[in-house]
Amino acid sequence: MVIFVLLLKVLIPNFMKKILITGGAGFIGSHVVRRFLQQYPDYQIFNLDKLTYAGNLQNLSDIEQNPNYHFIMGDICDSSLLQTLFSKYALDGVIHLAAESHVDRSISHPMDFVQTNVLGTVNLLNAAKEAWGKTPSNKRFYHVSTDEVYGSLGEKGLFTETTAYDPKSPYSASKASSDHFVKAYYNTYSLPIVISNCSNNYGPNHFPEKLIPMAINNIKNNQPIPIYGKGENIRDWLYVIDHARAIDTIFHHGNNGETYNIGGFNEWKNIDLIHLLCCLMDETMERPSGSSAQLITFVNDRSGHDLRYAIDATKLAHELGWQPSLQFEEGLKKTVKWYFENEEWLTNVTSGEYQTYYQTLYKEKT
Ligand code: NAD
Ligand code: TYD
Repeated sequence: MVIFVLLLKVLIPNFMKKILITGGAGFIGSHVVRRFLQQYPDYQIFNLDKLTYAGNLQNLSDIEQNPNYHFIMGDICDSSLLQTLFSKYALDGVIHLAAESHVDRSISHPMDFVQTNVLGTVNLLNAAKEAWGKTPSNKRFYHVSTDEVYGSLGEKGLFTETTAYDPKSPYSASKASSDHFVKAYYNTYSLPIVISNCSNNYGPNHFPEKLIPMAINNIKNNQPIPIYGKGENIRDWLYVIDHARAIDTIFHHGNNGETYNIGGFNEWKNIDLIHLLCCLMDETMERPSGSSAQLITFVNDRSGHDLRYAIDATKLAHELGWQPSLQFEEGLKKTVKWYFENEEWLTNVTSGEYQTYYQTLYKEKT
């Protein structure tokens, strides 16, 4: 064990110890913050988050007292704040997750997505470029992106790192645009970047506007489960903790300028997934088999609804040795269990109480 730890220390570059994680109070970001604090006790982690409706400090309540963790409430669009953070903390790594992330919201409010996902990302790139100078060494700017930039697949094929971008929703268009800017800063200014494009995540702390937590919450409350169209759209699901592990691997071992696809090799039709979830919910709630499935309600389809996403993650497996660790049913069971053990979290985020709390808290602090 001791030899293994020593070997790890040799293999992991001994730089990048002061890391800015943006969007660390969100779903995936909170798992990344926790992983880095647990895995690298000599790192300082600075979590910059605006605390939109999707950001929740309760996601990090178990680690908030860690002396290596620092929370900054702020907006990635605020360039003077970013400049201050880079110079005050001498940051040498960025893991950029802050984003507007929900497709349905992007259809009703596209400008919010342009603002944060495009302009905010360019702002962050500029801050890193200015702070790190013309020949940055031992620095890394990691941009976390989505498979949705590749558009929609037919019944066959997988997205690889060379699949042409073909985004279809305002969300995916904004993420595609940010990916292009990140690559442009590598080509033009030699900014040391890496990008990953991941498939749909699920797991603890997922905001209940997305399919899986929405369905869990609705079944718990005996409410209809709205399924868009005929439920035939396909997504490739990955447990969020496996995504955080992939981000750790790519951040430390990925090559500058490269893109890595991350996926679960785990495609599900929405309707089949919801039936599996309904069975797990019946078991958990000790209801007669078939009760939850009665709540399934087919509703009007999402405009421009992408048919199928599926990731080929073999580059990441072959080059950096990452594999998903959990079978889907096991991950889904863990997720359901988490939502039943964290009812207060679910009540808070659905009641909006935590938003009022933060607004009051930070008004008092400023
Ligand atoms: P999320 O919506 O749960 O969290 C986003 C976080 O960003 C929140 O904490 C929010 O407060 C913060 N934020 C939003 N605007 C901000 C701003 N202007 N300044 C600072 N902070 C801001 O999102 P998520 O699901 O955790 O996704 C994180 C990242 O991973 C996103 O970039 C998303 O595109 C990407 N991604 C998500 C998935 C998925 O399935 N959820 C899959 C692949 C990639
Ligand atoms: P979602 O969780 O919003 O993720 P994304 O759109 O980024 O893939 O949706 C996953 C799938 O579930 C997608 O095909 C849309 C569908 N869906 C529903 O059928 N009903 C819903 O209420 C939601 C939120 C999603």
